[in-house]
Amino acid sequence: MDLSAIQENEPLSNHSTFRVGGFAKYFYEVSDTDELPELIKWAKSKDIPYFILGGGSNVLFKDSGFPGLVIKIVACGIQHKGSEVIAEAGAKIAQVARFAAEHDLGGLEEFVTLPGTVGGAVSGNAGCFWNEISDVLSRAWILKNGDVLEVENDYFDFKYRWSSLKDADDVLLKVAFEVAEGCDKDRMQDVLEIRKERQPVGMTAGCFFKNPGATPEMSAGYLIDKCGLKGEQVGGAQISTKHSNFILNTGDATANDILALADIAKKSVKGQFDIDLEPEIQVIG
Ligand code: EPU
Repeated sequence: MDLSAIQENEPLSNHSTFRVGGFAKYFYEVSDTDELPELIKWAKSKDIPYFILGGGSNVLFKDSGFPGLVIKIVACGIQHKGSEVIAEAGAKIAQVARFAAEHDLGGLEEFVTLPGTVGGAVSGNAGCFWNEISDVLSRAWILKNGDVLEVENDYFDFKYRWSSLKDADDVLLKVAFEVAEGCDKDRMQDVLEIRKERQPVGMTAGCFFKNPGATPEMSAGYLIDKCGLKGEQVGGAQISTKHSNFILNTGDATANDILALADIAKKSVKGQFDIDLEPEIQVIG
């Protein structure tokens, strides 16, 4: 690969759905995952950290930026083989769901509502409408210490909004999703409508906090709402008036505005309910 194609001082606001954040010292978009080992070796040789980025829909880059190499995976091939749909890490997860629908394959219907890429969705065990990535992932290919390994579902030790990828240096390359004959296209339409009705669109990273429990009264949105924080603002950041677990950049928010607002929500819920909210989004920098 051509290492001179590594960009310097790339604005991270261009690569996060929050549209905030400082600069990456180095930045590279990977469309061929064979380039990954050399890139990681390069970062290690310079003794700088690297961060693997997918669609940027679940990250908050700090205003101070990232002092190392951000590797954005944009390799996005999708194919159907037997009872599996196989997608590269940079494919949009909603695109994978639509691909399955076009081939009349079922099992991925709900994922049509998810923002972000396959890599991000697996890393955070993304979920919606009582389905999680861990329910449909049959096997995957990862880069581990420079070698490509095929691993099964249990390798990731999936939990609610968590996988082992969060704590390991592994890089996800490709995922196989188990599918069945027959796609429920009405279900797809229904979940898209529910999402539109209940959740805001705009410059946001989806739900900011994890739900502290499984009942509606233990959802972060409910608890923040009960604290009277709908519409609360810090600078250009606002708690959505539609769904209180969404923080929106209304136009000129900084990462600090978003973090300060999240802190208000966290402290209010702690004060009123004695519950500790934990961020679902990953804060980088
Ligand atoms: N609620 C309020 N006020 C609000 C928001 C919600 O009272 O401002 C109440 C609702 O009325 C409902 C309960 O809280 O009784 C739960 O709300 P909702 O059904 O909207 O689901 P959620 O738990 O807030 C979860 C996921 C979403 C996913 C939806 C739909 C988490 C943190 N959130 O939201 O995932 O889209 O279910 O399946 O697990 C994401 O992870 O980024 C995300 C958006």
